[in-house]
Amino acid sequence: MCMDDATARQADIRVVVRRVARHHIMGEMSSFVWYKVEQLSWPADWASLFGRDAPLILEIGFGSGLFLVDLARRFPDANILGLEISIPSLRNAGRKVERMGLANVSLLQADAWSTLQVLCEPATIAGAYINYPDPWPKKDHSNRRLIDGAFLSLLASRMQPEAFLDIATDHDDYAEQITACLERTPYFQSRTNHTFEREDEGRVRTKYEQVALAEGRSPRYYKWQRNAVPVAESFSIPKELSMPHVVFRLPATIDRIGRQFRPWVVADESTRIRFIEAYQSFHDGKLLIETYIHEGPLMQRIGLEIRSRASGELVISMAEVGFPRPTQGVHRAIAALMDWLREEYPSLVIVQTNLQGEHADTPNKRN
Ligand SMILES: C[S@@+](CC[C@H](N)C(=O)[O-])C[C@H]1O[C@@H](n2cnc3c(N)ncnc32)[C@H](O)[C@@H]1O
Repeated sequence: MCMDDATARQADIRVVVRRVARHHIMGEMSSFVWYKVEQLSWPADWASLFGRDAPLILEIGFGSGLFLVDLARRFPDANILGLEISIPSLRNAGRKVERMGLANVSLLQADAWSTLQVLCEPATIAGAYINYPDPWPKKDHSNRRLIDGAFLSLLASRMQPEAFLDIATDHDDYAEQITACLERTPYFQSRTNHTFEREDEGRVRTKYEQVALAEGRSPRYYKWQRNAVPVAESFSIPKELSMPHVVFRLPATIDRIGRQFRPWVVADESTRIRFIEAYQSFHDGKLLIETYIHEGPLMQRIGLEIRSRASGELVISMAEVGFPRPTQGVHRAIAALMDWLREEYPSLVIVQTNLQGEHADTPNKRN
């Protein structure tokens, strides 16, 4: 896709998303919208999303949005981007932003890893707050915690030199982990003489913080900043390929393929593809294969479609459900479906394919 197409697509998507989201939440008397990673260009064009070019400040996991709206009021000259994975929190915060008429806030329904790696270009973030990240208190869940060495490297790669990083936690074990990671990372330094502070005067208490204080837990406030050390890892932004399709012939109907379908998983070190279920349309007989694709920080839940042409040939492509993005993982998923069909029907003939990436060697025949 050329740049102009990509920009036009982002603009179109934005209009459609605003309309659709507005429609969906009308019942709640709110017109505030939030975005998902797959609805924006990669990297995102923050200036066009916010309607102006301004320093970008993130709050990761904003919860009820109390701190986020205060940020927006304290930094009217910054673009404030709130990230949350919880829909009730997005609704709650969206209502607050709307009620207060704050024009410098955008909300993303996205997790921190995918937002940083997929949407943010290197050295573009002016500051980030992470208030009370989920502590995952059970021992065998601690690997689910957001803040570790790899996450700090990713965050550092997206931050401008001297960008601030403020973290708060009330959880002793997580605090030990955060302390160790910050003291070990080469990319950040403390803005105070200490690793963390016990007070942060003038700060709005988040909802979680109010509960922690009421229950007698004492927070630690980490006030750090990015230094000038270049980040060793590249954390590259995933690329989009062409819209994949394969035209093929085989001695079976779509109904039969649908009946043969069984859920299965294909995985290697970078990608995990789960074929979940096959659904057939009453209307035109198309088969829709629900597929989850995890590629690094990205997770897409898409439909792969098998339909027949009047000529009798079959076509596999991406279904236009949601906002599917043609990544390498999607090309690989279609290649895996073709491998399965070839096992079931050794006489399968590929008429045309544009599959790319590792599967470029899939037969590219025309006859
Ligand atoms: C313990 S709550 C704290 C909420 C808020 N910051 C506060 O202090 O009241 C953690 C929040 O982080 C959100 N969260 C968890 N993992 C996340 C991730 N990977 N990216 C973005 N938000 C996340 C959760 O949905 C939850 O709302």
